[in-house]
Amino acid sequence: MRMNLPKEVAIIEVGPRDGLQNDPSMVPTPIKTEFITALKRAGIKEMEITSFVSPKWVPQMKDASEIVRAINDSSRNIVLTPNRKGVDLALSEDCKAVAVFVGVSNTFNMKNINKTTLDSLNELKPIIAELKEKNIFVRACISTSFYCPYEGKIAVDDVISLCSAFVDSGVDELSVADTIGMANPKESFELFSRLNELFPQTLLTAHFHDTRGMALANVFAALQAGIHRFDTSAGGLGGCPFAKGATGNVATEDVVFMLHQMGISTGIDLNALKDAVKLIEPHLSRPVESKYYHLPESE
Ligand code: HMG
Ligand code: MG
Repeated sequence: MRMNLPKEVAIIEVGPRDGLQNDPSMVPTPIKTEFITALKRAGIKEMEITSFVSPKWVPQMKDASEIVRAINDSSRNIVLTPNRKGVDLALSEDCKAVAVFVGVSNTFNMKNINKTTLDSLNELKPIIAELKEKNIFVRACISTSFYCPYEGKIAVDDVISLCSAFVDSGVDELSVADTIGMANPKESFELFSRLNELFPQTLLTAHFHDTRGMALANVFAALQAGIHRFDTSAGGLGGCPFAKGATGNVATEDVVFMLHQMGISTGIDLNALKDAVKLIEPHLSRPVESKYYHLPESE
């Protein structure tokens, strides 16, 4: 009997944004651009390259405009932002792909962007319509879709109703996140199966953090639920500074290695990906912990 698996999976690299945003070492802008370029050399076609957020809240991302100007090619270079000011900055830099973000949990949203979930949604709806009129690719990142560090377990119906509001607003993609790495594979399978059934016209992406070592199992469970797009971070870097207990994202190299071993293609060259991680590691405040990165060269 054969497992029902796709031939191909899309990897959306979030290392230069989610990976770096939480690191206390200020990574110099030219090193960030070298990192992004090395990731592209490895075959990454979609990437969150930076975020337009308050430099007071997230100092690491204060060079967003310089990053956008330096990375000027035709692949999907996504900039993340939660509000009008960030979208205006993105438009002034001629960005072609924008990710907005909102937490299902109101308490998390307040801590992350100082607004209720409803206020964020109401601010973003007309902005999304405007971006779509300009033919810009829009993704909505749905944080705390499983658990919140402040409110605990999140109800599936609340996730669905927030996703639904974004789908109705016209987004191209939903990136549904386990912000604090607490979901288990059963929960991942169940939520992503529901979302896949409900939103067949929208690109659905799973975003896992690996706080409790369950991220790869969650990727596998989401694959089984029909999800073929994953946000991952080279080196397993990452975490949201405003989500207590959030650690690194699932490592790109570990996900790609697993998929390739299963005969699923990603278009990514693992050796070149390792080179990208080698390039950024000396500039980070902690060592890289991903599994594939530490395998002997011959494997
Ligand atoms: P605030 O203090 O309530 O708002 O912050 P404000 O309007 O008073 O703005 C404060 C200052 O920031 C002002 O500057 C604004 O102009 C400026 P000042 O007048 O003091 O000099 N500002 C901006 N600058 C650049 N870009 C902008 C922007 N907006 C305002 N877009 C605010 C509210 C939303 C700004 C703040 O809370 C913020 O920046 N939060 C961002 C938090 C963040 O980046 N979190 C991590 C990303 S989300 C994530 O990691 C989760 C995800 O990975 C999925 C998952 O895993 O769950 C996506
Ligand atoms: Mg994240």
